Amino acid sequence: MSQGSASKPAIARRSSGLSGTVRIPGDKSISHRALMLGGLASGETRIAGLLEGEDVLNTGKAMQAMGAVIRKEGGVWIINGTGNGALLAPEVPLDFGNSGTGARLIMGLAGVYDFDTVLTGDASLSRRPMGRVLDPLRRMGVQVKTVEGDRLPVMLRGPETPAPIRYTLPVASAQVKSAVLLAGLNIPGVTTVIEPAITRDHTEKMLAGFGAELSVEADKGGTRTVRLQGRGRLTGQIIDVPGDPSSAAFPLVAALLVPGSDIIIPNVLMNPTRTGLVLTLREMGADIEILNPRLAGGEDVADLRVRHSELTGVSVPAERVPSMIDEYPVLAVAAAFAKGRTVMSGLQELRVKESDRLSTVADGLKLNGVECEEGKDWLSVTGRPDGKGLGNAAVKWVATHLDHRIAMSFLVMGLASEHPVGIDDSSMIATSFPQFMDLMKSLGAGIEQA
Ligand code: S3P
Repeated sequence: MSQGSASKPAIARRSSGLSGTVRIPGDKSISHRALMLGGLASGETRIAGLLEGEDVLNTGKAMQAMGAVIRKEGGVWIINGTGNGALLAPEVPLDFGNSGTGARLIMGLAGVYDFDTVLTGDASLSRRPMGRVLDPLRRMGVQVKTVEGDRLPVMLRGPETPAPIRYTLPVASAQVKSAVLLAGLNIPGVTTVIEPAITRDHTEKMLAGFGAELSVEADKGGTRTVRLQGRGRLTGQIIDVPGDPSSAAFPLVAALLVPGSDIIIPNVLMNPTRTGLVLTLREMGADIEILNPRLAGGEDVADLRVRHSELTGVSVPAERVPSMIDEYPVLAVAAAFAKGRTVMSGLQELRVKESDRLSTVADGLKLNGVECEEGKDWLSVTGRPDGKGLGNAAVKWVATHLDHRIAMSFLVMGLASEHPVGIDDSSMIATSFPQFMDLMKSLGAGIEQA
C-alpha cells in the first residue's frame, strides 16, 4: 500500500504518436463485487480477468477473514463461499487501504451480522465520509462505534434480527445503493432502495446472476426502485471481468491528445452507466470508434479504436455525472488541450473521492499553466490545443494526495504539454492500475520515475 511506503515521483514528457494495442485490467467495481458475492455464495465461483490492484486484493483478504476460501490457478481466481448468512466473525480489523468501494460495500455486507466487524483504511480513506452508509445501517438496527464525523476506523455490530428498510438514496451513489442491498442479503423480508438517478448497476446485475430474488422498476422520470428478498440462497458463478472503462480512460485520452496517435483498447466494459466519458469526448470531436460491440457475461463490451483528434470545449451537463464520476480528472486534462472552454457542473461528489478532486485537479492544472476556474461544484477549463506553454521547463510537482486518478491524469497531461509534467507520487497507481506505467510506455509514452 502507498500508505507508509516511500513516495515515487514521476515525470511525463511530450511524446510522439502513440501506437499499438493496450489490454487494460479488469473493471474495479465488478472485481470487488465478484469477490464479495463469490465469497458469500454457496459452492464455487471462478473469476477470470479479475483486477489484481491493491484495492481489490484488500476486499479478497476481508472475505478470507470472514470465511471465504480463495485461491488462484493460472489466471483464474477460485472461491469457495460460506453460503449466504454464514459469514464468520473476522478476528482482525479489516484494512481496506485506499478503497471506498471495498470499505462501504463490506460495511453493508458484514455490518448486519450479529458479530463485531472493525474496518480501517489509509489516510485518504480515513478522511472520507462514511455516514452515508452508516445511517441506513443504523436504521436496520446496527450498532456503530466511530470517531466524530462518521469516519474510519469504524466498529459495527448487527442485531439478532436486523430490520428491512425502504431507503431513498440522499446522494447518487452506487456504493450506498450496493451497501444497503448487500446488507439486505442477511435481513429477513424485502429491502428496498430507491435511486432518483441511475448509478452503476453492477450489484443488481450480479446479485440476479448469483440467484438472488430481486426486482428493478424504473418510472418515467428515471427513478429506480430495487427490491431484494433477504436470506435467499446464492450459488457460485463463472465470471469473466471486462476491461475497466475508468482505466481505459487514460490511454484513451492520451491517444486523443498526442499528435499522430492511433491505438486499440480491446474488451472495454460499455455498460451505459459507465460510458459518460466516451459520450462527452465524442461531443468534443474525439475520433473514438466502437468496434465489435457485444454482450459478455451479461455486460456490454466493445473494442475501442482511438486516434489523435482536435477537440473543442463543451458544457457537460450535471445529469451525466453518475456515468463518468471517476473520469472528471482526465476529462479536465483533455479540456486543457481543447479549443475554447469546457464547463463541468454538478461535481459536488468529487470533493469526497480519494482526494478533493475538484481542488486537486484545479491546483494541478494551474501549476502547469492551464487557465481554469473552480466553483463550489463546478470546474471550467480553457484549453490550448497545441499544448504551448503548458507544463514546466523546471519541473514542478503536482500534489496527488494519495489519489491514483490524479496521478495518472497528470502523467497523461505531460505527454502532450510543451514542457514536462511531474507528480509527487505514483505509488498509489497500484491501487487500481498496477501495469499503467509499463502499458503506457509500450504505446510509446515518455513516462519515467523521477
Ligand atoms: C463505485 C462507485 C462510485 C465510484 C467508485 C466506484 C462502485 O462511487 O466513484 O470509484 O464500485 O460502486 P460513489 O458511489 O461514491 O459515487
